[in-house]
Amino acid sequence: MEKHVDFKRHRRLRSSNAMRTMVRENHLRVEDFIYPMFVLEGKNTKNEVSSMPGVYQVSLDLVVEEVREMYDLGIKSIILFGVPNEKDEIGSGAFVETGIVQEATRLIKSEFHDLLIIADTCLCEYTSHGHCGVIHDHDVDNDASLKLLARTAVSQAQAGADIIAPSNMMDGFVIAIRQALDEAGFTNIPIMSYAVKYASAFYGPFRDAADSTPQFGDRKTYQMDPANRLEALREAESDVQEGADFLIVKPALSYLDIVRDVRNNYNLPVVAYNVSGEYAMVKAAAQNGWINERELVMEKLTSMKRAGADLIISYFAKDVAVWLKETN
Ligand code: PBG
Repeated sequence: MEKHVDFKRHRRLRSSNAMRTMVRENHLRVEDFIYPMFVLEGKNTKNEVSSMPGVYQVSLDLVVEEVREMYDLGIKSIILFGVPNEKDEIGSGAFVETGIVQEATRLIKSEFHDLLIIADTCLCEYTSHGHCGVIHDHDVDNDASLKLLARTAVSQAQAGADIIAPSNMMDGFVIAIRQALDEAGFTNIPIMSYAVKYASAFYGPFRDAADSTPQFGDRKTYQMDPANRLEALREAESDVQEGADFLIVKPALSYLDIVRDVRNNYNLPVVAYNVSGEYAMVKAAAQNGWINERELVMEKLTSMKRAGADLIISYFAKDVAVWLKETN
């Protein structure tokens, strides 16, 4: 018999669906997903976000119904964003006891005891100027903002939040929140830090959903430059030292190299935030019939796992839960 030239036959392991399934290295599970929700003050309102088809701002009275849908699909964690009626210079709506996220947390907890509620801890949805902290001399004042952020975290924990997720990118926010939580007796509440958060155009649709567009300037003095990689490791490093329990990388899709870097350098759970713009692009292309939505979504989310993410925050979580059920 003629001797084969020496090459590897990689296709052997791709020969059938059963074979491919057997050798598959990464998987999506419904437990990997955190579903973002936007809660409105007011009654009987469910507004579809125009740039995010299938995503709604839901008023407090309809929130339980909305949560039930995803809970029944097997999703067991949500991240809450508040859309208040009134805003002010310091974002008081973020930390008052009757704030929208605090109310929503109490309500959801009373219905779904084992659902994990993650509170996004930031001021931008609550400030009249739309920045993530207090303004002094046309810029966000780091240390003054930390105090309000810590107050917000404590009030969210008091309302029953299971995890605090600070996203405002002030230096020292993890330690400021850790100390405040500990002093208030919440030593067991973990911090899921938005450790590595870029100043990204991918957040555009979220700012429609959360009504949090800055009224002047941009967020580049606190969120990171998309060109930087080493800086991501410095950001993650300080959050680890300050006591973070989870590290978020955000956005996800064009930052999978950073997800991998963070995974390789730290041993905390890594969370990829599949942000609003990543969702909107897929939806727009799918509505035009240009791509296969289901295949594309599963591919990109699986890529996040492959890059090293343990968890994924995604507006697609409900769709994925349905699709995973269908394929199992
Ligand atoms: C609040 C916050 C933002 C997002 C999550 N938390 C917006 C921003 O920083 O402007 C974006 C999420 C998304 O785009 O899906 N600071």
